[in-house]
Amino acid sequence: MTETPYTFDLNDPDCIPSRYDNHIRRTLTSMRGQYQDTAAYDAMLAKEDTLLYEVYELQRPHVAGEVLHGISIVHPGKVGDEYFMTKGHFHTVLETAEVYHCLKGEGCMVMETPEGEWAVAELRPGVVLYVLPRWAHRSVNTGAGDLVTLFAYPGHAGHDYGTIEQKGFRKLVVERGGGAVVVDNPRWSGGQ
Ligand code: 6PG
Ligand code: NI
Repeated sequence: MTETPYTFDLNDPDCIPSRYDNHIRRTLTSMRGQYQDTAAYDAMLAKEDTLLYEVYELQRPHVAGEVLHGISIVHPGKVGDEYFMTKGHFHTVLETAEVYHCLKGEGCMVMETPEGEWAVAELRPGVVLYVLPRWAHRSVNTGAGDLVTLFAYPGHAGHDYGTIEQKGFRKLVVERGGGAVVVDNPRWSGGQ
């Protein structure tokens, strides 16, 4: 771990950092149970354990005062009519926020609080999103190319995936008539 201030480049075309410590690859398998259309999911997985997204992190101590940062790249595609998306999570320390800067692609950030408030923010190059403390967040790629974001969040935040893995987010982003629309998640609205 570097003990002096450092820089890194985000080079075109893919914005992969010129230096990183962790490279996380999330495939279909890691998203089991998160997609509505289980038949489409199973059919895709039977063909290939498709790579959905990747995260490049620069390692810093997971302590308050440090800011963890890196690049998130969600690849384009759909499972049924649902777009490729990240697992999504609350921060273990709920009272911790996050900043996202969209560098490439088009998509949205699906967000919600434990109390059920929800929000969906559009992402396109140049957009900066401030995810307030207490809001879970999931990136969704609604475009034809990679959705690339730079993220930064407090070192002590941690990740709570378990809560989201239970029922998913209250809102889903699906393709309807060639465009992305936000719909209720039947698992929350009692449809399932
Ligand atoms: C974080 C950030 C961000 C996120 C990636 C992948 O808290 O670390 O929100 O880096 O981890 O976008 O998304 P998942 O962590 O939900 O898989
Ligand atoms: Ni986060």
